[in-house]
Amino acid sequence: MMELKGRKALVTGGGRGIGRAICLRLAKGGADVALFELDAGSAEETTKKIEEMGVKSLSLKVDVSLQEEVKRGMEEINQSWEGVDILVNNAGITRDNLIMRMTSQDWETVLGVNLRGAFYCTKAVLRGMMKKRWGRIVNVSSVVGKMGNPGQANYVSSKAGLIGLTKAVAKEVASRGITVNAVAPGFIETEMTKSLPQKARDSFLSQIPLQRSGLPEDVANLVFFLCTEEAGYITGQAINVDGGMLM
Ligand SMILES: NC(=O)c1ccc[n+]([C@@H]2O[C@H](COP(=O)([O-])OP(=O)(O)OC[C@H]3O[C@@H](n4cnc5c(N)ncnc54)[C@H](O)[C@@H]3O)[C@@H](O)[C@H]2O)c1
Repeated sequence: MMELKGRKALVTGGGRGIGRAICLRLAKGGADVALFELDAGSAEETTKKIEEMGVKSLSLKVDVSLQEEVKRGMEEINQSWEGVDILVNNAGITRDNLIMRMTSQDWETVLGVNLRGAFYCTKAVLRGMMKKRWGRIVNVSSVVGKMGNPGQANYVSSKAGLIGLTKAVAKEVASRGITVNAVAPGFIETEMTKSLPQKARDSFLSQIPLQRSGLPEDVANLVFFLCTEEAGYITGQAINVDGGMLM
């Protein structure tokens, strides 16, 4: 039950949705969990729930798309914890539009959070993991990063980019006892998907063999497993958690 006892985890975008479920699953497994989150209020709520589970938590207001903020956040963690053993790059946003109407700003903003943010956070934690010769990095990609989706050229590119980042870094750090994997969720019930029009929801649902949308906890269970000792022979993978949507 407590496979992660003594481990320190950092989850980006842990204030709500999939990120919060990941924080709570890692905490249930015994890890102390820090959050980099834009929304201080929701981060505090998650922190409270984590502490109720008997482990430590740190809530840091950090925009992962800004390297200076990531560095400052990491310095704060290092003051209390001496680095982290587990990083989950979960923070992600959408700015959907058909490519003909997509602005450079829409492109930059999404790539900045979803992909560049993961790059900054990975750089910030790697030195400590290399020293300890142990680490787990999990990048939250998406099935659309593998299959494409109209109206999401920026988001899909960022999620496909995360799979590339996963593989490159996995090869670079494998000899140091660090694994790097991606999870690719399908259609998961969160604030991000709540705003989708009914037609789009129905279309997604009709493509899911298990005949239901996913829950944040479905994703969190896979992330948790990838962070355990038992998953130590898995690296450089992008594993779908999508009810069979993409096979
Ligand atoms: N919901 C789905 O169906 C689905 C499917 C595939 C992949 N994903 C991915 O899962 C991840 C979580 O999605 P979700 O549905 O829980 O989204 P969400 O919008 O509910 O939560 C995202 C969280 O990230 C935080 N965040 C946003 N920008 C940030 C920044 N610059 N710095 C720090 N924190 C920031 C938000 O404040 C929020 O708490 C995202 O990467 C998303 O792309 C979601």
